[in-house]
Amino acid sequence: MHNSRLDDLRDYPFQKLARLLETIDPPTGMTPIALSIGEPQHPPPALLADTLAAHTADWGRYPPTPGTPEFRETVASWLKNRYALPDGMITEKHVLPVSGTREALFNIALYAIPQVQSGERPVVLIPDPFYQIYAGAAAMAGAEPVFLPADADNGFLPNFGEVSESVLARTALCYLCSPSNPQGSVADLAYWQNVIGLARRHDFLLAADECYCELYDRIPPPGALEAAAALDGTASHVLAFHSLSKRSSVPGLRSGFVAGDPDVVAGYAKLRTYTGGASPLPILAAATALWADEAHVKANRALYRRKFDIAERILSGRLHFYRPPAGFYLWLDVGDGERCARELWHRAGVKVLPGAYLSRPREDGSSPGDRYIRIALVHDVETTEEALMRLAATL
Ligand SMILES: Cc1ncc(COP(=O)(O)O)c(C=O)c1O
Repeated sequence: MHNSRLDDLRDYPFQKLARLLETIDPPTGMTPIALSIGEPQHPPPALLADTLAAHTADWGRYPPTPGTPEFRETVASWLKNRYALPDGMITEKHVLPVSGTREALFNIALYAIPQVQSGERPVVLIPDPFYQIYAGAAAMAGAEPVFLPADADNGFLPNFGEVSESVLARTALCYLCSPSNPQGSVADLAYWQNVIGLARRHDFLLAADECYCELYDRIPPPGALEAAAALDGTASHVLAFHSLSKRSSVPGLRSGFVAGDPDVVAGYAKLRTYTGGASPLPILAAATALWADEAHVKANRALYRRKFDIAERILSGRLHFYRPPAGFYLWLDVGDGERCARELWHRAGVKVLPGAYLSRPREDGSSPGDRYIRIALVHDVETTEEALMRLAATL
């Protein structure tokens, strides 16, 4: 016996990719390069190891679910500065540490999706293509996922004007990723405000997935809390998800936070005392130090900018290349993403992710990701350049 909702979970994109490439050999004499996973390989700042070492004794203590006051205060002040939030809108009471936003994005569905005894299922709105956790969370919470295409025609952001009133009436949760994975598109303040307005009118929670917000090319992306502040100065119906994985190049630390609507934070904190996932105290101490430091983030941004410069030099005018305003992915229209991924592995030893694996087939069988490949510019400059040269020579 098991929870039959598990049967609705599809294979994760990296399992599909492993299957796609399992019978294909990369060329001999060429070191394979994986650009398929968004796992930053830039070295983290020294203060990470130093702070962890200084808190060794804390491994002997169970961490409290709400974390430490130092962590929450540092994060609240980071948010206030970053988004020019009004005094008191987000204080340490409105912040919770999470063990990476992946688990938090999954668990929020357990908080947000109501149990219905009969009648229509609650809806979760999900941009398409999307971070696959959203669909897994909707499935395990018993909700109906409604996918909103985010393709080139609509600037790679879902068009909420196309969601019917009857779907909005059933919506319990909406995931929105900005800067988005995989396209690197950025929601402006008006866009966020429109979605927040819908969330308030239809009483659903907006889960604003903003883990790429510090990796921008020129202009800092606006955030959901910033938009809420401009609307009425409250975070009602908004929960923002932030992570150190990309900002500070520490995906292995498993450290992020959520902040926003006071009622949601309180209820979610209660749920989290049961689900677990409290961040260990040495990790919280290191995370506090990382959120308080901007120098390493600036250096990180500069490194990504250099790699986008290289990508632009090599790919400009080809494969519908565009330079995204944020994030660290290239999203290239290659016509047939799966075919291209096989070809690149076989002929160039470069592993990329077919866009279809981040997307859902529509009724006609096609998906908004079919034509694309996603390329993660997460390696050092030299490796990235080598991979892009091989890719350009192959395609
Ligand atoms: C869109 C998006 N959201 C959330 C995450 C989760 O990041 P983490 O769990 O490392 O905070 C990722 C990781 O790749 C992501 O791409």
